[in-house]
Amino acid sequence: MGREISFNSALATLGEYLLRRVPAAYVRTAVAGLERRGLLPSGRLGAGVGPDGEALSAAIPQRWAVNRPLYEKRGGTLDFDDLLAGFVKDSETNRSDMARFYAFCLMFDQITKEGIAGDVAELGVYRGHTATLLAGFARRSNRRAWLLDTFEGFRDDDFVGVDAAQRVQFTDTSLEAVRAFVGEENTTYVKGFFPETAVHLPADGRYCLVHVDCDLHKPIAAALDYFYPRMTPGGFLVIHDYASLWWPGAEQAVDEFFADKPESVVPMPDISGSVVVRKAKHGP
Ligand SMILES: C[S@@+](CC[C@H](N)C(=O)[O-])C[C@H]1O[C@@H](n2cnc3c(N)ncnc32)[C@H](O)[C@@H]1O
Repeated sequence: MGREISFNSALATLGEYLLRRVPAAYVRTAVAGLERRGLLPSGRLGAGVGPDGEALSAAIPQRWAVNRPLYEKRGGTLDFDDLLAGFVKDSETNRSDMARFYAFCLMFDQITKEGIAGDVAELGVYRGHTATLLAGFARRSNRRAWLLDTFEGFRDDDFVGVDAAQRVQFTDTSLEAVRAFVGEENTTYVKGFFPETAVHLPADGRYCLVHVDCDLHKPIAAALDYFYPRMTPGGFLVIHDYASLWWPGAEQAVDEFFADKPESVVPMPDISGSVVVRKAKHGP
């Protein structure tokens, strides 16, 4: 994993250098060559170059940039310094996944605007990068963030069906390290194997936003079974990895679950192809 990150980072640096120094036609040829050889695993460089070789980037949404005074006048309170610090800390992947960061921030604003009640939760915390966003929002809006993980990586009990050939990953973390990184205020950590750990969640729990990021079919299906009925109407269920093509179990679990539900998935343009589902305000 470490090798892939530094490879991506080297490519990005090379791309930025080329964009600044080299005529557009050369940049296009270089990018096309890398793409042909399959040497752009993150797609970052390819997506960042326009038809004339110009740099393309995701700008900060206008409500928080040019229209920030209007945003604040309407009562907007999102604090980027606070939220961004945790999301990007020591994470090269997240630094190039600002689409996901902004998507979460827009959902937080929408929850506030619509007065959607309930806590936030994440199944699949790993080292806590997205958890810092959820905990930050929970603290500002007087909710609780429920963070669930083995904090020891995958368990082979989940390597079934489409995931039968998977191997243990994400072991390089610990509950203590995540606690120190994300903090304690308005936050509850639930360590162990889901869905066994669901008994530690409040029986009458309601959620305005749940992030399901556990990669494999079995825990994702279990998370949808558990959280969907507990979502407040209008609440956001975000499922990571659906469209990435790395984790076929994620796509399969989501498609199976929503086949007979009134809601549909909305794809997001983040690196890992998350999808968002908003719980219907009224039953079918
Ligand atoms: C991709 S990582 C999560 C990344 C994290 N959301 C972030 O933003 O950095 C997937 C996590 O899912 C957890 N996980 C997978 N299956 C699980 C299960 N059945 N119960 C608890 N945790 C599980 C793994 O331990 C791993 O930490």
